[in-house]
Amino acid sequence: MTARSKLVAANWKMNGNRADNERWLQQFRAQAPSCAVVVCPPYVYLSQVVQALAGTGCGIGAQNVSERPAGAWTGEVAAEMLVDCAVGWVIVGHSERRAFYNESNEVVARKAARAIEAGLRPIVCVGETLQEREQGRTQQVVAAQLEAVLQLCPAGQLLPGAIAYEPVWAIGTGRTASPEQAQEVHRAIRGQLAARDAEAAAAMRLLYGGSVKPANAAELFSQTDIDGGLIGGASLVAADFLAICAAAAH
Ligand code: 13P
Repeated sequence: MTARSKLVAANWKMNGNRADNERWLQQFRAQAPSCAVVVCPPYVYLSQVVQALAGTGCGIGAQNVSERPAGAWTGEVAAEMLVDCAVGWVIVGHSERRAFYNESNEVVARKAARAIEAGLRPIVCVGETLQEREQGRTQQVVAAQLEAVLQLCPAGQLLPGAIAYEPVWAIGTGRTASPEQAQEVHRAIRGQLAARDAEAAAAMRLLYGGSVKPANAAELFSQTDIDGGLIGGASLVAADFLAICAAAAH
């Protein structure tokens, strides 16, 4: 039994320009996908996407947020500012932030807490490196990442956000986790949530991310605990992203 409807999120990462975005948005609007969708462009294009998708029911998300409230933090963006600009979602703890901007589990937890405080829906990303997987530490690493967030944000407060399992070795590599590998981690994540709050665990959307393409989306999304995807490279091509959304709608 699952009451969870599928969600597909586009993480454009640091890609796009106004002209390409406009073409993407036109194509996207023309098709109106039948699953829930969140589009996460770079900060500077958020207003363009908010305007273009107004009235479509599509969620808009930022890719990062400050762990602090407004103040003298040059270059940062506060959660309240995103809300002020009609942005409803935010990705926190993406592996690229963890690896290249030194975001620890604690920083990620504080960002999730700030997002919730401001009324944003967080998409909390977790995932192991190849080395950690090969050492048999996948469950331990993912559990510790999630635990840090749960220390500050009770599972019930993470709703109606989502948790995205993104194995680092599958991101942008063309090497997807098998549906069984992904399901195994998703099941463990739901178990960890259920140990604290069974109701929130049953309702939480767990997204898979890492080289999701139109060709492999349906099989991944058919797994019991996979409730959609967080799509990087394939989300840059509107037709591919729409095909992935269609796979989620079945
Ligand atoms: P790819 O889909 O390009 O592998 O990226 C996944 C991802 O990091 C989404 O956040």
